[in-house]
Amino acid sequence: MKILDFRSDTLTKPTEEMRKVMYEAEVGDDVYGEDPTVRRLEERAAELLGHEDALFATSGTQGNQLAILSHCRPGDETIVEADAHIFLYEGGAPAALGGIQLRPVEGKNGRLSTLSVRRAVRDASDIHQPRTRLICVENTHNKAGGRVIPVESLRELYAFSRENGIRVHMDGARLFNAVVASGTSAKEFGQCVDSAQICLSKGLSAPIGSVLTGSKEFIAEARRWRKRLGGGMRQAGVIAAPGLYALDHMVERLAEDHEHAKMLAEYLNEIPGLHVDVEGVETNIILCDITDSGMTNEQFQQKLADYHIQASNFGEGIIRFVTHRHITREDVEEVYGRLLQLVQEGAPTLH
Ligand SMILES: Cc1ncc(COP(=O)(O)O)c(C=O)c1O
Repeated sequence: MKILDFRSDTLTKPTEEMRKVMYEAEVGDDVYGEDPTVRRLEERAAELLGHEDALFATSGTQGNQLAILSHCRPGDETIVEADAHIFLYEGGAPAALGGIQLRPVEGKNGRLSTLSVRRAVRDASDIHQPRTRLICVENTHNKAGGRVIPVESLRELYAFSRENGIRVHMDGARLFNAVVASGTSAKEFGQCVDSAQICLSKGLSAPIGSVLTGSKEFIAEARRWRKRLGGGMRQAGVIAAPGLYALDHMVERLAEDHEHAKMLAEYLNEIPGLHVDVEGVETNIILCDITDSGMTNEQFQQKLADYHIQASNFGEGIIRFVTHRHITREDVEEVYGRLLQLVQEGAPTLH
């Protein structure tokens, strides 16, 4: 039985074409600024986001942290959505590396309202309080189930932040999923933020890397931080080349992943004991509520594993399924078949 692995879109492997461009990549020492392929990737990313400059980073986490460290100073505060990747899954890096405090603010479907942010901004004239220096948004929002943050909402937040001298950073690990799902261009999203981090190694299928974009001055500071953290890479063109290929050739196909996610969401919803907000599935992430199955996440994952299906534990009662390039339409249909079998063969608690 084929293993159907829905744990993450990070599982995608480089395509044949990517391996070819890696082999052929023109390289140089990037710490000396002499790797032409890295430079091309950075220029392409900057152009796509409509920002002045860009920096190749090893990972999404590194890109986000370089942004926070470059925008803030020790003692500053950064507002983040309460379920943001930066807050939940980056090892407390702003505190550990930069003496920067994160202030979680609850959003709706991953979206921070300007009003709730306004309420969280500190009084700059009060010496008791930290300075609010930065707001981080996440698009698409992973923990909210791949929801797109609409450009109108970001525009409003950005206008507020500018009036108040606060910067905005976008964790765009899956920005191109947002672009494809909404029809809003990366540039339009880019115009609502001071900096953005985009991942090449998720749905876009490149093997490694992220790009951070922003103003020339900001990128110069981020480059210093990257070196300080040991992220200065030498002949990095070999890993930049598939990233560049991904930006040029792998974006439009994300629509397929979204279609498959919608299909899978509908199928899961038909299984007794499982619930999915099908309407809320906008991109490639599905949050499946298994509470009514009477099983724990671990028990449910074991049942799935018995049928060679893998998905992630996403907090009590929630299992996350992510569609990606290695999941075909037939695979989604196959999952439905296996789930029906799982129910019929009397998974004791699925009723
Ligand atoms: C929304 C979001 N931001 C950032 C990251 C971090 O990316 P990386 O795993 O490359 O550090 C992830 C990873 O899954 C993510 O989902």
